[in-house]
Amino acid sequence: MDKKAHWEKVYSTKQLNEVSWYQPTPEVSLRFIEELTIPTEAAIIDIGGGDSLLADHLLEAGYTNISVLDISSAAIERAKKRLGDKAGRINWIVSDITEFKPERQYDFWHDRATFHFLTTDKDIQTYMEISQQAIRSGGKMLVGTFSENGPEKCSGLPVKQYSEESMSATIRRWFEKIKCIHTDHLTPFNTIQHFLFCSFRKAIA
Ligand SMILES: C[S@@+](CC[C@H](N)C(=O)[O-])C[C@H]1O[C@@H](n2cnc3c(N)ncnc32)[C@H](O)[C@@H]1O
Repeated sequence: MDKKAHWEKVYSTKQLNEVSWYQPTPEVSLRFIEELTIPTEAAIIDIGGGDSLLADHLLEAGYTNISVLDISSAAIERAKKRLGDKAGRINWIVSDITEFKPERQYDFWHDRATFHFLTTDKDIQTYMEISQQAIRSGGKMLVGTFSENGPEKCSGLPVKQYSEESMSATIRRWFEKIKCIHTDHLTPFNTIQHFLFCSFRKAIA
């Protein structure tokens, strides 16, 4: 099954809180957004946002320029349905991130648990080229992946685990590291997944 078909099936068969990555409040992401002092008018894009509640929380906090990208149209449709009238305040993009052609630049790029599904050097390189093109000079990026102690698979797919060193080495060609933290995610099945979250700033050209 190709990866788009995989994710369409996941979002057509499982409820919001029946997937391991579900979190009612994306606390780590929101804390980083506060610490990174992302202004409410910043252009934000959530990569592989799925039907995560980050968009809901950002709207609630007054953010006005939010885009959510996901490979699965079923995920985006679910998020739109949940948000109801508020869905019109978000720019929805259905695309594989490795085929994304950004038409504008973003001030803040958020990715929780999508980057680590890219396991080939080619896909990782493509992701980095697209992100550095899509993020403005001085813009910020937050990437959350499984850590070296995290699971080796998610949703039945292999993932690439990262240490602070390997993440920084992958991203440092275009971005300077701001901060990394290790954090535990409690899944709806009461298991713990070890994550690494790192923030970066794009060098000013
Ligand atoms: C583990 S889920 C995380 C969802 C969300 N970021 C969160 O934190 O709840 C991974 C998400 O990435 C999306 N995804 C996987 N591969 C992708 C790709 N190549 N391009 C865009 N989205 C992708 C999936 O559809 C899914 O919504």
